[in-house]
Amino acid sequence: MADLRVELCGVSLKNPVIPASGTFGFGREYNEIYDIARLGAVATKGLTLLPRPGNPVPRIAESRGVILNAVGLQNPGVESFIKNDLEWLRSKTKVIANVAGSTIAEYGEICARLDGLVDFIELNISCPNVKCGGMAFGVRPESIREVTAEAKKNCPHTPLIVKLSPNAESIPLNARAAEEGGADCLSLVNTFTGLAIDIERRRPILANNTGGVSGAGIKPIAVRMVYEAARAVKIPVVGMGGIACAEDAVEFLTAGAAAVQVGTANFGDTRACLKIIEGLNEWCDRHGVSKVSDLTGTLVPNA
Ligand SMILES: Cc1cc2nc3c(=O)[nH]c(=O)nc-3n(C[C@H](O)[C@H](O)[C@H](O)COP(=O)(O)O)c2cc1C
Repeated sequence: MADLRVELCGVSLKNPVIPASGTFGFGREYNEIYDIARLGAVATKGLTLLPRPGNPVPRIAESRGVILNAVGLQNPGVESFIKNDLEWLRSKTKVIANVAGSTIAEYGEICARLDGLVDFIELNISCPNVKCGGMAFGVRPESIREVTAEAKKNCPHTPLIVKLSPNAESIPLNARAAEEGGADCLSLVNTFTGLAIDIERRRPILANNTGGVSGAGIKPIAVRMVYEAARAVKIPVVGMGGIACAEDAVEFLTAGAAAVQVGTANFGDTRACLKIIEGLNEWCDRHGVSKVSDLTGTLVPNA
């Protein structure tokens, strides 16, 4: 039995597998299928100060190897989460509260509300599906530095993870900007902006027109970006994008990730995270790896 424990910003996780924000709700439905206490942590659906109904439907489209979503940050709001879900979720496992705002001040406000109540705050500055906020803050180094600094000022007691967009000019520059702004950790990737067309109607399938692309097809691009980010900063990196099995997770760890998140794969197989945890254990045993954390950043590039 390999040691699957990893440490992230001084917080110990029982394993490095975390369901990704927006694909796991607050964990209650999945807990009917398996005990979510088995997970390293849970990243919540993106929380905003006020409840949001999200975008009109259709909000999900399928394409070969990927899906597109334009859910539009539908969520009950941070107060409802604190009142109805937080205590239960914390009794199960570590909690990563994923947050979003429409202004820099709003990011600060929501971080202040959650400071000290959750294990991590994950700043979503990379959502492609909302008109105000989201990705607007996450594509350029200057605004990444500014929003990160405001967030960190407001959550001095909680490790801050800044979630980077793949829709970026330079991953290393954006990664460094987040680190300079005071991020304790990075996570990437969020979804890639895409367009799926109903050719009979010659209209976009999604009501929002464009959506965020995720799933197996984005994995090699995400692995490259995680590798670039991990080399650019000293803080830890959480990797995601298309992970569907233990071997995929090992790729991200090797590229430099300290932990991984699993998103779209949960839709195809509700037990995906559990299978990845079990598979990681078997993979490590087969390869003589006694501690999964020893894999992080072990990629040897070709000369
Ligand atoms: C339906 C859906 C909703 C999502 N909602 C959020 C969200 O609220 N906040 C966020 O930071 N990322 C959100 N994401 C992005 C995922 O957390 C993840 O970064 C992305 O899907 C890539 O991982 P994957 O290929 O394993 O799905 C969402 C993704 C999907 C598919």
